[in-house]
Amino acid sequence: MQVIPLADGFGAELAGVGLVDVASSDAAYRAVRAAFEAHSLLVFRGQSVGDDLQAAFSRAFGPLELVKVGSVGHGTFYSRLSNLASDGTVVAENDRQIWRARANQLWHTDSSFKPTPALASVLSARTLPTAGGETEFASTRLAWERLPAAQQALLQRAIVTHSYAHSRDQIHPELMTAQERAALPPVRWRLTWRNPVNGRRALYVASHAYAVDGMGDNEAKALLAGLIAEATRPGRTYLHRWRPGDVAMWDNRATMHRGRPWPLQEPRAMVRTTIEARDADGLEEMRPAG
Ligand code: OGA
Ligand code: MN
Repeated sequence: MQVIPLADGFGAELAGVGLVDVASSDAAYRAVRAAFEAHSLLVFRGQSVGDDLQAAFSRAFGPLELVKVGSVGHGTFYSRLSNLASDGTVVAENDRQIWRARANQLWHTDSSFKPTPALASVLSARTLPTAGGETEFASTRLAWERLPAAQQALLQRAIVTHSYAHSRDQIHPELMTAQERAALPPVRWRLTWRNPVNGRRALYVASHAYAVDGMGDNEAKALLAGLIAEATRPGRTYLHRWRPGDVAMWDNRATMHRGRPWPLQEPRAMVRTTIEARDADGLEEMRPAG
């Protein structure tokens, strides 16, 4: 396995190992898992990936999340992010799927708004536009490590509320249905997530985060916006330009990401599988009561 760095301090392309190897060999899984813990973002090139292989690969890392109500692929393991209708035609620009794509263009970490957050996401490129449609990543581990010690001491155990409605309502008031709202009440997490393998902490912030215990609304929003802005400053991010056969996997405990726009008349289709976090992934310390 070769590890080729992608950005300054995080992200790596892995060569000489692929999804099939991880799905079928414990030694390959352990090597890739170690790279995941170290680099937070992994890219595999030239994969012939379909749904079954993507799920088999992902399952090596932990239990798979079921796609939530209101997303394409609801009730399966496969979240289908595309601008395609079920008949394969490109949807209109005012379609809910386009609102969803725009919401994904806010800096976020996947599933922080769920009662069980996500360890990792695995995203495969199935149909790519001729321009745009990149995915951009930032390390919230490096963002945390750059903060002055005095600020770290104040923030390390702060408690933040996350809600899917908070991010979706920024895009369109009707993006979320009443059923989705009822299914996804706000959840609370510590502001930093400690990786139990290497002890490194990361900021756990996202477009879904909006309130901080013991702080006024405006102060909390300014704090969160400031932390996100610092984490994602130009020069600190990695822009992934997708090629056919690419699969990316990121650590939702230690990164944020956002989709980038593309010409909407062109099809773009991606498939995401998502791995739930468990206590062994450091989740236990994230719960405010713990
Ligand atoms: C995701 C996501 C952005 C993109 O899959 O979680 O945010 O570029 N994707 O498709
Ligand atoms: Mn996402």
